[in-house]
Amino acid sequence: MDRIEIHQKAFELFLDADAIAKRIRLLAVQLNLDYENKIPVFVGVLNGGFLFLADLIKEINIPCEIEFIKVSSYKGQESTGTLRQSFALPTNLQNRHVILVEDIVDTGFTINNLVNKVKEHKPASVATCTLLFKPDALKEKIDPLTYIAFEIPPAFVVGYGLDFDGLGRNLKDIYRAV
Ligand code: IMP
Repeated sequence: MDRIEIHQKAFELFLDADAIAKRIRLLAVQLNLDYENKIPVFVGVLNGGFLFLADLIKEINIPCEIEFIKVSSYKGQESTGTLRQSFALPTNLQNRHVILVEDIVDTGFTINNLVNKVKEHKPASVATCTLLFKPDALKEKIDPLTYIAFEIPPAFVVGYGLDFDGLGRNLKDIYRAV
């Protein structure tokens, strides 16, 4: 479907499932190389990052661990600027190679907050891996923004894990607001 409606708002097809899968395979090749012999811990950021992490991890062929953190800062189409953390980071990140896996970096607030929280655990290294990055929406410098699947314009997007007020996460493709 090229056009859909969610909460009476129109969206058009932006990135299809095939393009997403191809890009994820490439990202995984890079991660497999970069983290060989490091047994990294992938920390998936819920809710939005669940499909991305699930598909990415299936392409990772080195030993690794998987954890999740649940946060939210969005209401409707606007970032609220306050991060709600519903469950905490695992406590055993000391001396580990941590890769935070996000659905999207918009203002940068969420990922920066999480990077700082991970750093408090004294990990061996911290990297971030995001499916989508909106460089024009960025309000804070992100250090580090290591792996990016797609750089996109600042329009609101849904699908493949991303929601619009709770709906749309189950869509295979990614749609953008028109
Ligand atoms: P940031 O803190 O402003 O970078 O926003 C990050 C979070 O806001 C992401 O993890 C998403 O959950 C949500 N978000 C940002 N942009 C979008 C969008 O276009 N569609 C759906 N959710 C978004």
